[in-house]
Amino acid sequence: MITIALAKGRLAEKAVEILEECGIMCDELKTPSRKLILKDNSGLYNFIMVKPADVPTYVEYGVADIGVCGKDTLLEEDKNIYELLDLKYGACRLCVAGYADRDFRFIDTLRVATKFVNIARKYFHKKQRNIEIIKLSGSVELGPAIGLSDVIVDIVESGKTLAENNLSVLEEIAPVSARLVSNKVSLKTKGDIIRPLVACIKEVINR
Ligand code: PRP
Repeated sequence: MITIALAKGRLAEKAVEILEECGIMCDELKTPSRKLILKDNSGLYNFIMVKPADVPTYVEYGVADIGVCGKDTLLEEDKNIYELLDLKYGACRLCVAGYADRDFRFIDTLRVATKFVNIARKYFHKKQRNIEIIKLSGSVELGPAIGLSDVIVDIVESGKTLAENNLSVLEEIAPVSARLVSNKVSLKTKGDIIRPLVACIKEVINR
């Protein structure tokens, strides 16, 4: 039995399509429901539907053998798991954004609103910049708009949310896309199932 953790929302749908191409059919996944544990048609695979930020945690503890989540989550959570594949979808960028016409260079302690607390801390530490982190759970673009923060660290996909709030990308931190991850022990103990699956997924995404 292999358990796969999927990030509820945008990334799960495409992951299910890829898995189907590898012969893992799951009618339950296509039926709208609030079930959090689902089985594929063969009964060999279990799916758990979790909050995106929790995928690395389930995989690290081994309650999920493999999982799909964004690179942003991997960087933020920094768990002891393997990143097996770049699935090459869900592409966006982790950025520092703010008002393009303001000069932030001389602010002593830059106020940064973000849900990516660890990424922001690491990034500005490397730049030897003093910061105060203001942790928000979403809609962080509000930060500069209402004077809560000087800048934000957030995901930029189309750039629409920034543009509509008069904000611009100031610096790019890292490119982001969906990743296939695995528990370290599972890859050894269940390698006979996981490795061929990874090979198939690789083939599907490179097609
Ligand atoms: C994400 C991100 C930005 C937006 C960027 O938010 O936090 O707000 O998408 O996308 P865009 O560049 O295409 O406009 P999400 O929709 O995940 O919701 P959140 O604000 O609650 O995090």
